[in-house]
Amino acid sequence: MYTKFIVLTGKDIPKRIYKKILDFDEEIFNKENTDFKVDTSMPRNILNSFLNKNISTTSIIYNNNSKKVVAYLQAFPLKHELVEDLKYGEKSFKDITSNDIEYYSPNKPLCLYIYSIGVAKKYRGKLLNFNIGNYPSGQKMINILINEFINKLKQLETNNIIIDSILCDGVSKKGQEFAMKATGGQILFNNNDIGTMMCYSKFDINNFLNKNKKSIF
Ligand SMILES: CC(C)(COP(=O)(O)OP(=O)(O)OC[C@H]1O[C@@H](n2cnc3c(N)ncnc32)[C@H](O)[C@@H]1OP(=O)(O)O)[C@@H](O)C(=O)NCCC(=O)NCCS
Repeated sequence: MYTKFIVLTGKDIPKRIYKKILDFDEEIFNKENTDFKVDTSMPRNILNSFLNKNISTTSIIYNNNSKKVVAYLQAFPLKHELVEDLKYGEKSFKDITSNDIEYYSPNKPLCLYIYSIGVAKKYRGKLLNFNIGNYPSGQKMINILINEFINKLKQLETNNIIIDSILCDGVSKKGQEFAMKATGGQILFNNNDIGTMMCYSKFDINNFLNKNKKSIF
């Protein structure tokens, strides 16, 4: 059955769509479109290298008609040394390179970094009046993304991937709300000049599911 919007996660995202993710990142994180008027988009080649390194915990909503990404959530595990630098503001997300991204390998405690979440302006704050794949109408796009993310985390857990901590920075007012909620609310620092509020927490999947109950379908 043809559906206008599809939800894709991890390796199900075809490589030819990566450039559409880069377009979307540019669109929503350019200086004009951000709350603190800071350009928080990533150079295309760098973001592309992130996608190529570890796309497992990235989800997108794709419009098959316009051939555009309309929402995405990107997360990946980061090397512990960089996590420490990010936690204390010695480095920012702009310093991340693909070398800092870990693969998901079993029995090795990892810090998961929620790098980015975004929904196209026209769908923000709105309950959808159409289905997306198996998702019934009446949902927000953000909740669909979080649900996909949660399913992926559950799958990783089953494969003995250990996530012991979670880091997330918000570069907008809504992004900061998201970061606080997703991590559990421990704010390490807040610097609107660089558009960053960094949140960190020890990670426990059951706590995470509890906090994000609303997004579980
Ligand atoms: C951040 C963004 C994705 C939020 O999407 P939105 O559609 O505006 O989200 P809303 O604030 O309307 O709703 C968030 C919903 O998600 C729910 N939710 C579930 N888990 C959540 C979580 N971990 N954090 C925040 N909200 C969560 C909330 O409960 C809320 O639902 P409700 O309104 O029914 O209570 C969107 O505003 C956006 O793309 N902004 C521009 C890009 C950006 O700044 N991204 C963040 C960068 S870090």
